[in-house]
Amino acid sequence: MRVVILSGGSGFLGTAIRNQLGLLDNIHVLIPSRSPREPLHDHEEFIPCTITSPQDVEALIGHASTRGTLTHIINSSGAFDMGDAHEETPEHLGMLFDANLFGPWTLARAAAQEMIRTSTHGTLTTVASMAAVQITAHQAAYQIAKTAVLRLSHLLAEELAPHGIRANAVLPGYIVSDEDAESPGQAKRTNWVRVSDVARMVLWCMSDASAPLTGGALPLNHLPPG
Ligand SMILES: NC(=O)c1ccc[n+]([C@@H]2O[C@H](COP(=O)([O-])OP(=O)(O)OC[C@H]3O[C@@H](n4cnc5c(N)ncnc54)[C@H](OP(=O)(O)O)[C@@H]3O)[C@@H](O)[C@H]2O)c1
Repeated sequence: MRVVILSGGSGFLGTAIRNQLGLLDNIHVLIPSRSPREPLHDHEEFIPCTITSPQDVEALIGHASTRGTLTHIINSSGAFDMGDAHEETPEHLGMLFDANLFGPWTLARAAAQEMIRTSTHGTLTTVASMAAVQITAHQAAYQIAKTAVLRLSHLLAEELAPHGIRANAVLPGYIVSDEDAESPGQAKRTNWVRVSDVARMVLWCMSDASAPLTGGALPLNHLPPG
């Protein structure tokens, strides 16, 4: 049984990713969450966990090994807020860095060690943002955290390639629900992307179809006309 750990699985994009994972066989999905809720699919399990806590993550990885082989990490954890660089406070930086960088890093680190220990050729997929590559004022902490998490993904790709572990990032623009994407005129919006399209690209990153790709940073910023 392949085990997937999906951080941010309780969120907007996380729910769409869970719907795509629900179509796969031979897979068990663990969702670390500060507020666990009811699963949507038979093979899902919410685990009480704060992903910035090494102790919580260690317990999560231990639990994964009782369910099968930890093969895929999807880091969809994140938080957004506005703020100018010259006005940032340590508390606000801490909140945005925890959600977007330190949590995903803590999880990726522990998972990579487990994949190396079990000789598993797994995947680490990070949901960064177009904010990592496009400068937009008044969202300083978010932009810096997303830039850092993208660099983290690139470094993981370099360092883990000898172990057969791949690391890729998707960079969504503004994610809209499938319903909103269908509204007249929305296709003209630049930098928008449909949530189910992002979820499908995340699953592509963890699939054998993307086997030649590591260190990728895939911009997802196109809303095809309906
Ligand atoms: N929505 C967009 O337009 C957009 C655009 C580009 C990129 N993204 C990125 O896509 C990912 C998913 O976004 P989303 O819109 O689905 O977000 P969301 O609905 O707000 O969900 C955020 C998730 O992050 C988890 N999380 C873990 N630690 C956190 C912390 N310290 N603070 C806040 N949340 C924490 C939450 O899990 P628990 O509460 O269960 O612990 C929650 O499931 C994020 O990385 C986001 O930056 C989103």
